[in-house]
Amino acid sequence: MTHRRRRRDAEQADTEITILGRRVRVRAAVPLLDALEPLAPERMATGRFCRNHECGNSRFYYRLPGDPQERKARACRFEVVPGMEITVLSAELKFVLRELLAGHESSNVDDA
Ligand code: FES
Repeated sequence: MTHRRRRRDAEQADTEITILGRRVRVRAAVPLLDALEPLAPERMATGRFCRNHECGNSRFYYRLPGDPQERKARACRFEVVPGMEITVLSAELKFVLRELLAGHESSNVDDA
């Protein structure tokens, strides 16, 4: 990722969420799948996502701030909610985000 692109992505990152215990900054009010792209652009581009709520590869579980109930959704249709906590990722999402989750990628990540 180029310096210019990192800077642009950082400027567009405007809310914080937690993914499997890692805090990341992402764009708000866009589908989660789109918000995750700057965090692992090459891998997200080659991920097996229909982006049409059909394949199930974007499934995840989450909790909203102040609500202990865990819910499930598909990242291609679910808009980012500030402060949300993602507790479970589909195998495909885990695969494309593996370096981010291991702490090897992106300046938009803080350890929780
Ligand atoms: S990307 Fe296929 S269901 Fe969301």
